[in-house]
Amino acid sequence: MSANLQIFTAKKRRSASSSPIAVVSLYDAPSAALCCDAGADALLVGDSMGNVILGYDNTVPVDIDAIAHHTGAVVRGVKSSSRPDVPVVADMPFGSYHGSENEIVANATRLLRAGAVALKLEGAGARTLRALELLLEMGVPVMGHIGFTPQAILRFETTVQGKTAPDADRLLDEALRLENVGCFGVVLEAMTQQVAARITRDVQMATIGIGAGAQCDGQVLVWHDLAGLLPGKPFRFVRQYAQGREVLLEAAQNYVREVKSKEFPATENAWSMNDEEAARWKNE
Ligand code: KIV
Repeated sequence: MSANLQIFTAKKRRSASSSPIAVVSLYDAPSAALCCDAGADALLVGDSMGNVILGYDNTVPVDIDAIAHHTGAVVRGVKSSSRPDVPVVADMPFGSYHGSENEIVANATRLLRAGAVALKLEGAGARTLRALELLLEMGVPVMGHIGFTPQAILRFETTVQGKTAPDADRLLDEALRLENVGCFGVVLEAMTQQVAARITRDVQMATIGIGAGAQCDGQVLVWHDLAGLLPGKPFRFVRQYAQGREVLLEAAQNYVREVKSKEFPATENAWSMNDEEAARWKNE
């Protein structure tokens, strides 16, 4: 495991003093630099970019080109920050790890060449486990993702998982399978907090929760959610730490108004010829 991923294992010593791991899912260089400067432990280039910045209804249309493109941007942002060693994990998008071994290797290679130091795959079914094993054999650190897995949106009927004892058993079993394969961590998304706490207790890999309660080893939120950049009511598991959309809306309104009133651009926003050169030009 590379030195900058040690954060996931070091924090797994469940002493009361160990502080949870703070992860942000984001897609561009300036946000990445800002979150590193703010102290985030790790960044995820999530396929949530489909809903959040690419205008799709879900994550299914997001392809390997999009994740590779944004991974490069995030990695460059990290390098420009005050904490250039913050690890960047990239999502393997829908359909990129269910094909042939050659396809999986080629897709993973794209993301690693873009600068990711680990990859995250959704689910714990046979094909996902096979892909995880293949990646581990290549020497790639891998994370799992169970509970609500957005790539399976077309199949899921309910979002919150682990409400019944059999479902709780299923989730625990999935987490153990991911651990046995060799994942260094797992995202637990939208599951009851009792189940997330039990998984966190029973596995050695780090659990990173989103809508899974406070007992996980760490938390992840999408940057646009935590910064309040999106319209509409946020999901229950989101806390908005700013009303970013309101601030940006006001900025855009002020810009439009000032263009129309000719207050912008002002003298300080423009360049001038010196007087002598201007006079010479007029006389030519
Ligand atoms: O795509 C994403 O951003 C994610 C996180 C929300 C865990 O998978």
